[in-house]
Amino acid sequence: MIKITLENALNEQINAEFHSAYIYLSMSSYFLSAGLSGYANWMRVQYQEELSHATRFFDYLNERGGRVKLSPIEEVQVEFSGIVDVFEKTLEHEQMVTGLINKLMDISIQESDHATKSFLQWFVDEQVEEEANVEQILNNLKLIKGEGQGLLMMDREMQSRVFVNPFPAKG
Ligand code: FEO
Repeated sequence: MIKITLENALNEQINAEFHSAYIYLSMSSYFLSAGLSGYANWMRVQYQEELSHATRFFDYLNERGGRVKLSPIEEVQVEFSGIVDVFEKTLEHEQMVTGLINKLMDISIQESDHATKSFLQWFVDEQVEEEANVEQILNNLKLIKGEGQGLLMMDREMQSRVFVNPFPAKG
């Protein structure tokens, strides 16, 4: 049975992952309203990924005999000052999530919960990838100054992103 400190921390993480999903769906809506369907698609895939993270934490807490407690999801930003602003906020958000995952890992180490440490390692690696992907997009956007033909070319590229469930057995 999982310790209560970790149960509480994992419940907070479930909420944080749903909050992330909500943030990216809001960003997808912003891009749709701006006529940038490729960026909207990229953010929608990001939203689906976050839902899969939330569900994986949900399943793990249940597997360990913990009790999932779903709490309200904080309101998210609706309007942005442009495409660079959206991706700067995305990077800041992912850096914050990395901090949350690291804190969870710290608690697992303090509690000598080796199963949770092992479970969290996937998320530690995922955060490295998430931050690198967003940094790459931001660099490209800055090169094209977030406008013109380059922006439309990037929009077409962003259209090709598809969601691949990283935890297919868990649904
Ligand atoms: Fe669930 Fe973007 O980390």
